[in-house]
Amino acid sequence: MSRARVAIVGTGGIAGICHVPALRGEAARAEVVAAMDVDAGRVKTFCDEHGIPGAFTDLDRLLEEIRPDLVHVCTPPLVHTEQVVACLEAGAWVLCEKPPCLSLAEYDRMAAAEGTGGSGAGVDGAGGGPYAAIVFQHRFGSGAGRMRELMARGELGRPLVAQCVTAWYRDHAYFEVPWRGRWDTEGGGPTMGHGIHQMDLMLALLGEWIEIRAMAGRLDRDVQTEDVSMAMVRFASGAMASVVNSVLSPREESYLRFDFTDATVELRHLYGYRDADWSYTPAPHVPEARAAAWTAPAAGGAADVPSSHAAQLAALLDSYERGERPATSGAGGRQTLEFVTGLYKSALTGRPVLRSELAPGDPFYHRPHGDTPGWAPEVGT
Ligand SMILES: NC(=O)c1ccc[n+]([C@@H]2O[C@H](COP(=O)([O-])OP(=O)(O)OC[C@H]3O[C@@H](n4cnc5c(N)ncnc54)[C@H](O)[C@@H]3O)[C@@H](O)[C@H]2O)c1
Repeated sequence: MSRARVAIVGTGGIAGICHVPALRGEAARAEVVAAMDVDAGRVKTFCDEHGIPGAFTDLDRLLEEIRPDLVHVCTPPLVHTEQVVACLEAGAWVLCEKPPCLSLAEYDRMAAAEGTGGSGAGVDGAGGGPYAAIVFQHRFGSGAGRMRELMARGELGRPLVAQCVTAWYRDHAYFEVPWRGRWDTEGGGPTMGHGIHQMDLMLALLGEWIEIRAMAGRLDRDVQTEDVSMAMVRFASGAMASVVNSVLSPREESYLRFDFTDATVELRHLYGYRDADWSYTPAPHVPEARAAAWTAPAAGGAADVPSSHAAQLAALLDSYERGERPATSGAGGRQTLEFVTGLYKSALTGRPVLRSELAPGDPFYHRPHGDTPGWAPEVGT
């Protein structure tokens, strides 16, 4: 089986910190053949440092000359759509950093370009594609897999209540990077850029939501978007959740809590979890032996897989080799952007929003802040 030939587009922070190590760990299945950045000096240094043979400053040239099988898009959100579409049309599969793009309209353009490439049908031409998967790495740790499996077996009972907290801290200097904190380049604040990870995992576990009520504000940072948002959401199952997205929280934490009829499941971490970060508390009526089995090591010793780019890349390469749609592509990637859009619409219009109303006739389908200017400054401006 031939190795996937991979290109990295955007050679800034996340490319070097997470994508290169993940790809190095998959050296048996993938080789990085080229990288591209609009900053010529940066891409040259990146390629020299990581032993990548092809350095480019133009994506079309890279796609034409290298014909990669898979492209990791690690650029600012503003350019995700045009780059993802160009890669798909050139027949390459895509792993695109979050947030997927700036609006549902853009997402649908990317999704429409899937499957149009000539040679992108998985390894050695197997199956369908090419597909564009979004980086939502927290779906891929073994802890999430365990919870999903227990839910599927009915072990935890019915989901009732959830909490989804992203309490992170980003100082003023963080927002000096020109594309950050602006609607037209980042697509939003901590809702779109930071809490999206926790909300994605909550949605992946609890399924379809139907209604959201939200508030947001710009309390302290010099940004155009919000720096905090809060929401209440009702799921199709009847379960209800509260959500906090903040970049103003000095003691940082990512916290998810799920109360089922038979158990409380909690996850506490910051940027990535291991199995030990999950806890299971049985309801009083659950026999001890049954609850003990929830966290017992699996027979044969299943690995403790941290949530990470490496875990998601392994799953993506499995999909690629089989020519199957990856979990965070298509509808599987869209659901989280749809939730973010619903949150912004509710916060900016001051009324509850139904998932079903986020259609092409709605201004919020086209821009996360719809036809509003965003919110007025509240403090410090
Ligand atoms: N999954 C995660 O946990 C995670 C963490 C951090 C950042 N991210 C996401 O990764 C993306 C990049 O973030 P970052 O922190 O690495 O940003 P960064 O600013 O450090 O790097 C972005 C790079 O893209 C280059 N670039 C800009 N426009 C380009 C274009 N049109 N073509 C090619 N290169 C271009 C810049 O020169 C820069 O080198 C963002 O979408 C961000 O939200 C994800």
